[in-house]
Amino acid sequence: MSKNQEKNTEAIRLESLWNSDFGDDYVHRNQTVGEHRGPFWEMILNEFPSQSMLEVGCNIGANLQWIASYIPPHQVYGIDVNKKALRELRERVPDVNALWCPARELPFRDRWFDLVFSMGVLIHQPESTLPLVMSEIVRCSKKYVLCVEYHSEETVELPYRGQSGALFKRNYLQIYQDLFPELELRKQGFLSRDEGWDDVTYWMFEKR
Ligand SMILES: C[S@@+](CC[C@H](N)C(=O)[O-])C[C@H]1O[C@@H](n2cnc3c(N)ncnc32)[C@H](O)[C@@H]1O
Repeated sequence: MSKNQEKNTEAIRLESLWNSDFGDDYVHRNQTVGEHRGPFWEMILNEFPSQSMLEVGCNIGANLQWIASYIPPHQVYGIDVNKKALRELRERVPDVNALWCPARELPFRDRWFDLVFSMGVLIHQPESTLPLVMSEIVRCSKKYVLCVEYHSEETVELPYRGQSGALFKRNYLQIYQDLFPELELRKQGFLSRDEGWDDVTYWMFEKR
């Protein structure tokens, strides 16, 4: 086995997990999860105007459904490894581009989108390929990178629906800034359960 194959083994295991009943069950459980997200996207797109956007790990479009009401849907892209989620996304938000692909191999040219983001997706990447996924996100962005994830000062792995090695709280701000010094932090905030979120932190970066 080559070094690269070895590095990708855990990523492939988790991608397969998300593209199985485990991922389909997530789709069933989260049909209405995006209902409260409109004001957040309005704020983001007012403060950080973008004409093209990519969501890495978009699921059924809980974010893209809002984004596609501000940006022409044909300039809105989502990638995911769960086929059921992508089928639902195509039905719910018909003109957005929904592609199957793993986050570590984005099939786009450098700087193709004004804004690239992940929400609740870096937490599901193993240590071995997290830097690769983050570098793909940064590579495909011309201007902005948005990260919305569970924060912890130190990396902690939490059990997730009977799986191990599948959920990591980390200091994503620090990791982005250490790996990509060209990213300047422009805004950060906390999205609480009271507002219909899952106690997640967001960081908006601009490429210098
Ligand atoms: C917790 S859900 C978050 C969905 C969406 N971002 C949201 O905020 O509602 C994680 C999503 O990321 C996808 N995913 C996980 N690992 C991935 C990977 N390595 N490449 C592409 N998609 C991935 C899963 O299939 C799932 O749809």
